[in-house]
Amino acid sequence: MSKLAIHGGPRAKPTPYHRPNRYGKEELSQLKAVIESGNLMGPGGKVAEFEGLMKKVFGVKHVVMVTSGTAALHTALAALGVSEGDEVITTPMTDIGTVAAILALHAIPIFADIDLETRLISPQGARERITGRTKALITVHMAGMPCDMGAFLKISEETGVRLLEDCAQAHGGKYRGRFLGTIGHAAGFSMNESKQMSTGDGGFVFTNDDETGRIAGLFRDKTYLRDGSIGRGSQPIPFFAVNYRPTCLQAAVAIAQLGKLDGVVARRDEIVKRYYRELSGLRHLTLPKIVEGGQPSWWPLAAAYTGETPTRDELAAALQAEGVPVNTGMSAVSNTLRTELISRKKYYPLTDAVPGFWRDTVYDPDSCPNVDRLQQTVMRLPVDQRYTDEDIDQTISAVQKVWAHYFG
Ligand SMILES: Cc1ncc(COP(=O)(O)O)c(C=O)c1O
Repeated sequence: MSKLAIHGGPRAKPTPYHRPNRYGKEELSQLKAVIESGNLMGPGGKVAEFEGLMKKVFGVKHVVMVTSGTAALHTALAALGVSEGDEVITTPMTDIGTVAAILALHAIPIFADIDLETRLISPQGARERITGRTKALITVHMAGMPCDMGAFLKISEETGVRLLEDCAQAHGGKYRGRFLGTIGHAAGFSMNESKQMSTGDGGFVFTNDDETGRIAGLFRDKTYLRDGSIGRGSQPIPFFAVNYRPTCLQAAVAIAQLGKLDGVVARRDEIVKRYYRELSGLRHLTLPKIVEGGQPSWWPLAAAYTGETPTRDELAAALQAEGVPVNTGMSAVSNTLRTELISRKKYYPLTDAVPGFWRDTVYDPDSCPNVDRLQQTVMRLPVDQRYTDEDIDQTISAVQKVWAHYFG
């Protein structure tokens, strides 16, 4: 076994990963059509066309395209009836956009721990947080791995709590043969550039419920009715809403990206299957357990190192020196409970005043120890549909080389 690169030896991954531009002639041709149509503004035109295609591909009744994943979750929660003082349960291991969507409605985020094996919000942990004020529960399909939706549906049926799927990282994943996002009462997806489908920034809401779909459509467009039924000056403005309208330019790119989604999901699956096959036996390395019936739409794989010597960070540095970009976080924020926003309930940028709806909530920063444990041990292996077989061969060799050095 050759010397580790961190000790001056040759790199196991000597060449850069193959990552050609993910946008190309399909996006250009859709964009050209929008420019030539002279109509860049939604929500009709290409935005409606994209929504129509999505309904067919995913078999969902309503699709409402918006400007981001955060906007999608905000819109979906509003359409599900979440209002001031309601409690919404989710995990503190998520993008802060999940939490922002709750707070934007003056609802109260309540945090449940994750299951260490699946790395996902624990159904039991979530159930224990339900109170008379709980209105909704957000299952975050983190890193494209499906939450245990059977267990969450049961909780929802027994308690009346509404289920919102955060599918920001899970486009095209499935649970028991059904697409993620079509199982709960509604779902929010992101299309920022790190996602399986990207429009630079963007998002959309799914729901099979007519009323939820109707309200989501109004909420993303200041409640304006644009079907020609209302004369100028007569918009009723039935409730408070914002402008989350995407442009037809975003929708054009989204249509082209939708055409590539199956290929993205399948290639990522091939790569991750190799990681499971070829790295599963390594000492102190655990790979996530996939819930029964779950078919992930993979992101970088949340492997975890459970040994003590060397440290996780030393191992990660050794892998990085070999040329493998492992990263050591599941999200931009390790544990939302430890942010200023949550620990100090710092709602406004320029005052420490806590708004009334949030004043009585008490957070225990240590209440989700599995999140801390995972974040201290996680070592994410790179996954991208553009990687060649050689990229993956070399990645696997690098991990095996580093492991052989420390544990061989
Ligand atoms: C799990 C999760 N939820 C919500 C969001 C918010 O999406 P956006 O960045 O498009 O607002 C993201 C995006 O990073 C995410 O990964």
